[in-house]
Amino acid sequence: MKILGISAHYHDSAAALVVDGVPVCAVQEERLSRHKNDASFPESAIEWCLDHAGLTPAQLDAVVFYERSMLKFERILTCALRSFPRSWRSFPHAIKNSLGEKVWVRGIIASHLGVPRSKIFFTSHHAAHAAAAFFTAPTRRAAILTADGVGEWATLTAGHGERRDDGRANVTLLREIRYPHSLGMLYSTFTAYLGFAVNEDEYKVMGLAAYGRPTLAAQVRKLIRRTPDGAFALAPEYFEYHTTAARSYSSMFIELFGPPRSSYDPIDLETAEGRRFADCAASVQHVLEETLVDITRALQRETGLRDLCLGGGVALNGVANARILAESGFERVFVPPAPGDAGCALGAALYADRVYFGNPDRDVPDHPFWGPHVDARELAQAAREDNQSVQDLDEPALLDYVAGELAAGRIVGWMEGASELGPRALGHRSVLAPPHSRETRDRLNRDIKYREDFRPFAPVVTIEAADRFFELPAGGVRLARFMSGVFPVRPEWRSRLAAVTHVDGSARLQVLERDMAPRLYALLEAYGRRSGIPVLLNTSFNVAGEPIVNRALEGYSTFRRCGIDLLVAGPTLVVKRAALPATPLTEEVA
Ligand SMILES: [Fe+2]
Repeated sequence: MKILGISAHYHDSAAALVVDGVPVCAVQEERLSRHKNDASFPESAIEWCLDHAGLTPAQLDAVVFYERSMLKFERILTCALRSFPRSWRSFPHAIKNSLGEKVWVRGIIASHLGVPRSKIFFTSHHAAHAAAAFFTAPTRRAAILTADGVGEWATLTAGHGERRDDGRANVTLLREIRYPHSLGMLYSTFTAYLGFAVNEDEYKVMGLAAYGRPTLAAQVRKLIRRTPDGAFALAPEYFEYHTTAARSYSSMFIELFGPPRSSYDPIDLETAEGRRFADCAASVQHVLEETLVDITRALQRETGLRDLCLGGGVALNGVANARILAESGFERVFVPPAPGDAGCALGAALYADRVYFGNPDRDVPDHPFWGPHVDARELAQAAREDNQSVQDLDEPALLDYVAGELAAGRIVGWMEGASELGPRALGHRSVLAPPHSRETRDRLNRDIKYREDFRPFAPVVTIEAADRFFELPAGGVRLARFMSGVFPVRPEWRSRLAAVTHVDGSARLQVLERDMAPRLYALLEAYGRRSGIPVLLNTSFNVAGEPIVNRALEGYSTFRRCGIDLLVAGPTLVVKRAALPATPLTEEVA
């Protein structure tokens, strides 16, 4: 059975194709359209998926959309009417958005793809999140928790999934918390208050939190009341997101926390104002963590299960995930590489396959690489035409050369095979750098990523060496497979891993098994042979404001515009002419 999954119209549109129960490919629209967080109908992503699989729309058995758009419309309408007349300003905006595209999804899909309306299906938004988390995880029975800003009505669901010996599989969502009570919206409200972009910059709040102390946790708890049944309710007087499109927090919120930060003002942690913002971030992070720990602990007691699958945008919070692993009682915590809405395209297709159609359950390959492949010849041609130095090397020579350049302090653009689904570069569209010095980190921030100083960079380490450098609890390796957990760097290594150690001594590391990305693994080994430390800094291959590179040409154009010294795609190596002076590897590291 050939099933196309689609997510669209909120943020991070994507398409995914599942054939005979196994994902074939998946890609976010932004990677093809080159508009970051592209939310439009994913025409290019669908076209690429069908092309990649050699299918025409007529050959599809089903097209599944990741939410029930009528329910979402009902929620927008109900919330607007409930708060009328305060909502009069946002009402036309909300209606226009919904009527413009969101409600008539069946017609849009039918007309774009030319498939009969009878082949078009819908999952609930959180069922798609749950399926993306459970059906892709190597577990047969697990509790499931999804949490995000909002889908139709639900903002958090709890339940369980089962893959039975007779080949049937199911996801059962037992309970939900409904809009406007939402952990995602609570966090996003602070994201907006702290002057960052909602639905995009939530991880900046998490990064900033490490610089503060949760001195305002008691105030945050006024915003989120725990209910006797173990759930929570937000105190509406502090929020305005459900009544107006203009601002998400109320004047009472400002009374409690002080004036908001303008996005144009830099955060200066030397000032009292800067520290107040860091404390706000630390406080909402702390309350988010304690709420999630309570909910998951109760879910573990209730289900008695050992595994937990986490889905929804809140599952991108690696600090919270690590606390859930440590404190909930679950032995293993699985977070897919794309727990957010992009992953819902895959989740919706898998849900339809297993649950609607009752097709036999199949193992899903345990990796994030579902997108377009990089074409090394395209890179070689572009670089030669541009009069750059291009070499095609055999693998040992290439790895040895690149490891040597990294050890000399150079920064490498690394493209390999199929691109990742989800917001993190996990070794196929990465910028790699030596992890040792703060200068490297500052150079990356200044010349390549053009971003704030307080944001940490992540390390990637071979699975064999992970424990030597990082304090990984039982289950930590699994959480770190897709960079979903933040764990302490061992104190004795922090100064020698300064580029990837956050201010609080932690790192959002990726633990790499050879099978998942063999070439990056081999590069880590080669680098380890030179430096004694098989760890590299691994950040996504893009500059601020742009999606992660997809094709070789985008990698090349990014390489030419910023301070990356070397670019690799397959066997092809491009060395920038007049590479910047390198930061040599210091003696103490070798
Ligand atoms: Fe979502």
